[in-house]
Formats: sequence, structure tokens, C-alpha cells
Amino acid sequence: MTIVIAIDGPAAAGKGTLGARLAQHYGLAKLDTGLLYRATGVKVLAAGGNPEDPVAAEAAARALDPAELANPALRGDAAAQAASKVSAIPGVRAALLDFQREFAKNPPVLADGSPAQGAILDGRDIGTTVCPHADAKLFVTASTEVRAERRFKELQERGHEAIYARVLEDMKERDARDSGRSASPLAAADDAYMLDTSALNADQAFQAAVAFISSKNLF
Ligand code: DC
Repeated sequence: MTIVIAIDGPAAAGKGTLGARLAQHYGLAKLDTGLLYRATGVKVLAAGGNPEDPVAAEAAARALDPAELANPALRGDAAAQAASKVSAIPGVRAALLDFQREFAKNPPVLADGSPAQGAILDGRDIGTTVCPHADAKLFVTASTEVRAERRFKELQERGHEAIYARVLEDMKERDARDSGRSASPLAAADDAYMLDTSALNADQAFQAAVAFISSKNLF
């Protein structure tokens, strides 16, 4: 049996950074499940389609090749918005479910060639839908303003022109869509540890997560 850790939460709450550090610390293979939705959205856009079209979006999700997850364009805002749209389509979610569960069950070897102790998946519905029996679940959140500020700085650091008010608006729009959709909306599992990172830096968030995971005696 491999250990499975689920991390859920809204955009820019710090899930990615935290997940990467936990994966390194515990020797776990990590899957950023948002990339699956981003890659699906980008595939639809690249074919000239509409990410809100269920037929085109589901076909793109079914045809997804894991190699496409390395595309740097997936990090951009167009990909984020398209991802948020395709992710509301039940057929897309169903198409991506097996891939995520298989990763959790049989995690790939780590970058250094050693076997993984287990898997860590981050997303919106890992603890509720994808891996409801995960050994440890964290729900990472932060206020909308703090998340917009982090996203704004990240865009600036990458050399993109950004306007804070616009980033905040996009964040609110994406939050509403992710939480309001009927298919597997963003939600904390009943047994998730709630980690609000609004006033925490990355080290503090990591320490809090490790303290919670230690309490589960998994390693
Ligand atoms: O985490 P992210 O910003 O890369 O996610 C992009 C979009 O994908 C987000 O708006 C919601 C969706 N998503 C989802 O619905 N379920 C997941 N497990 C992960 C992401």
C-alpha cells in the first residue's frame, strides 16, 4: 500500500509550493491535477474550439497525452481560464479521473530513480472525489486579496504586464466558477486539515502541514 496525501484549495493558495516541498520531504511522487484541466483547455483552444463545448472538451480530455503536461503555456492565464471552463464539464472530469487514481495507486518512480513512498495530488476535489480514502487531507486556503496579490507578483516576476484589480477580478470569477459548478466543486473534505496561509510564509505553511501529517503516523 502506498501513502496518499490530498491537497485541495482555491487558486494561488500555496498548494503547489507546499505540495512540492512535502513531496521532496517524504519521497512522494507529485501530480498537479490542475495541469490536466489546463492541458485539456489548451488543446481545445489550439484546435479552434470553445472550452465550454462539452463534446470538444471531453474529446480533448480523452486524447490527452501526459507529455503535454510539460507545455510552459499551461502556466498562463488563458490556460487557467480555459481550464476553469472545461473543468465544469462532467464528461471531462470523468475522463481525467482514471489517470489521477492510477497515479495515486501506482506512483511513478522519483526523479532520482528511487521508488516513491506514495503520491501527493493537489487540486480541487482530491480529498472529496478522486482519493476520498487518502491517508492525509489538507485544504489550503487564503483570503482572495492575498491570493490575488501573490498571483500578481508571480506574473510581474515572470515579466508579464499585470494590473492588480484585473487579477483580483479574474480570481473572483474563477473562484465562483470552481465553487459553484455542480460537478465535483471545490470543497473541503470533512476530515481535511484546514490550513489558512493568509498570514503564513512558505516555511510556516510547510511546518504546519508536517505537524499535521506527523500526527497521522504514516511514515
Ligand atoms: O490549480 P489550477 O489553477 O492549475 O487549476 C486550473 C483549473 O482547473 C481551476 O480553475 C479548476 C480546475 N481544477 C479542477 O476543477 N479540479 C482539480 N482537481 C484541479 C483543477
